Amino acid sequence: MKFSLVILSNLLALALGQTGFLPPIAEPCDNTSLPRILCINNYAAVMPYPFFRPVSSLRNDYDFGATSVPNDPSFLLVNQSDFLVFDRDRGLRLLGPKPSLTIVFNVTQSIHEAPVYVASQNKLYLSQLPPPYGFLPQLVIDLNQDPPTISEFLSDPPVYAANGGTFHRGLIYWGASGGVDDVGGMEQRVDIRTVDPVTKKSTTILNNYFGNYFNNIDDLFVHPNGDVWFTDPDYGYFGNLTMTPPQLPAATYRFRPSTGAVHLVEDTLTQPNGIALSPCNRTVYISDSGALNGDISPTSARGIGYNQTGKRAIYAYDLSHDATHLTNKRAIYLAEDFIPDGLKVARNGYVVTAAGKGVDVLDKTGTLLVRVRTDFPVQNFAWAGRKLRTLWLTGTGAVAKVEWNLQGQVL
Ligand SMILES: *[C@@H]1O[C@H](CO)[C@@H](O)[C@H](O)[C@H]1NC(C)=O
Ligand SMILES: *[C@@H]1O[C@H](CO)[C@@H](O)[C@H](O)[C@H]1NC(C)=O
Ligand SMILES: *[C@@H]1O[C@H](CO)[C@@H](O)[C@H](O)[C@H]1NC(C)=O
Ligand SMILES: *[C@@H]1O[C@H](CO)[C@@H](O)[C@H](O)[C@H]1NC(C)=O
Ligand SMILES: *[C@@H]1O[C@H](CO)[C@@H](O)[C@H](O)[C@H]1NC(C)=O
Ligand SMILES: *[C@@H]1O[C@H](CO)[C@@H](O)[C@H](O)[C@H]1NC(C)=O
Repeated sequence: MKFSLVILSNLLALALGQTGFLPPIAEPCDNTSLPRILCINNYAAVMPYPFFRPVSSLRNDYDFGATSVPNDPSFLLVNQSDFLVFDRDRGLRLLGPKPSLTIVFNVTQSIHEAPVYVASQNKLYLSQLPPPYGFLPQLVIDLNQDPPTISEFLSDPPVYAANGGTFHRGLIYWGASGGVDDVGGMEQRVDIRTVDPVTKKSTTILNNYFGNYFNNIDDLFVHPNGDVWFTDPDYGYFGNLTMTPPQLPAATYRFRPSTGAVHLVEDTLTQPNGIALSPCNRTVYISDSGALNGDISPTSARGIGYNQTGKRAIYAYDLSHDATHLTNKRAIYLAEDFIPDGLKVARNGYVVTAAGKGVDVLDKTGTLLVRVRTDFPVQNFAWAGRKLRTLWLTGTGAVAKVEWNLQGQVL
């Protein structure tokens, strides 16, 4: 089949008299992997005419595979693949000899976020947000069971609408993105909460900026020095998780729990979303998902729109030597699909982002190496397992796992 496709594509290109097109665009990376692991030659830099990828809206996400390329039949293979390999050498190495993508749980059609792996328990904690589900409880996946089990998890007191999380020195750190007068019998505003996975006790470590509510603490990481870096976009209001319109600009902050001081570190992004630290502790990555935006005025209707020409990029910054501020902002990646959401850095420095129906793996300069293709939107992910070689993807309707060679950082 491979060879007949190549010949057919060649003939078509010749017949079209088009320059620069070297068929086929897509081919199985090796003859044992048909066609779940698909190599895209030359990043499909020249496609044969006519080709067209429809523009996505909130209702329809037209991914790369939705591009119509009638004069290269090899492109039809894209829709059958689990892994698209753009960089053959580094991509196949990070996938390893037997990569796999498996849906492990069908979950509700709500957003699933804030996955945090607790290695000492071999359990993965995650949250569920509307629509249509509520905000409590969270969920926990027990990886000691075969097959793994999923059940509800409620901390004491409960955390409302956890939206991003990490693990640091025995504690789950959750960015809680909701603000209401009464949830689980008590008031809660947007905050940063630690949860002890052993005792299930939760503790608020930050819930205001000089009296103002935060908007939607979305994602965070903890620097080795203990500072918590977090993004605070406006989504809580659009999604009706907060009862009050934003009081602060969408921005990114650094919080030092030992002193209580909060520092603004970035205020140029439309909707700062994922945030991650490189393993060398010198580069911070922040994604801007401003293409997904709404109106923050108090009189506006709640809700959100998607405009593909809006901001949907990952930016890299140098972290100053005293680890207090960011310099040298540069865009490194425009999401191939939808918006960049959850963001983390692998042990080898590769940058991984959830984006639409899948996950992209980039090198540190933003070169796309591999895309994992799922049939559900992925919001976030976390590495788990003894060697941290399994990536758990949490999204709308499903929780899946990827087995590959790319290892997570030890947290
Ligand atoms: C894959 O193709 C190579 C070269 O065509 C051939 O030598 C090899 O036996 C093939 N492997 C399998 C598993 O078919
Ligand atoms: C590939 O799948 C997308 C949906 O993800 C669909 O819109 C498109 O028509 C499919 N392409 C082909 C050639 O079947
Ligand atoms: C999830 O749902 C799909 C479609 O209903 C089904 O084919 C699949 O077996 C389910 N998977 C799991 C892990 O339950
Ligand atoms: C927002 O949430 C509040 C309380 O949970 C509810 O009363 C209200 O109807 C919701 N508004 C919208 C627009 O969904
Ligand atoms: C980054 O910080 C961690 C924790 O302190 C440390 O283990 C690691 O060696 C640091 N990395 C580098 C390259 O200094
Ligand atoms: C997207 O934004 C651009 C620039 O603001 C605007 O011209 C365009 O009409 C918008 N598209 C949609 C579908 O709203």
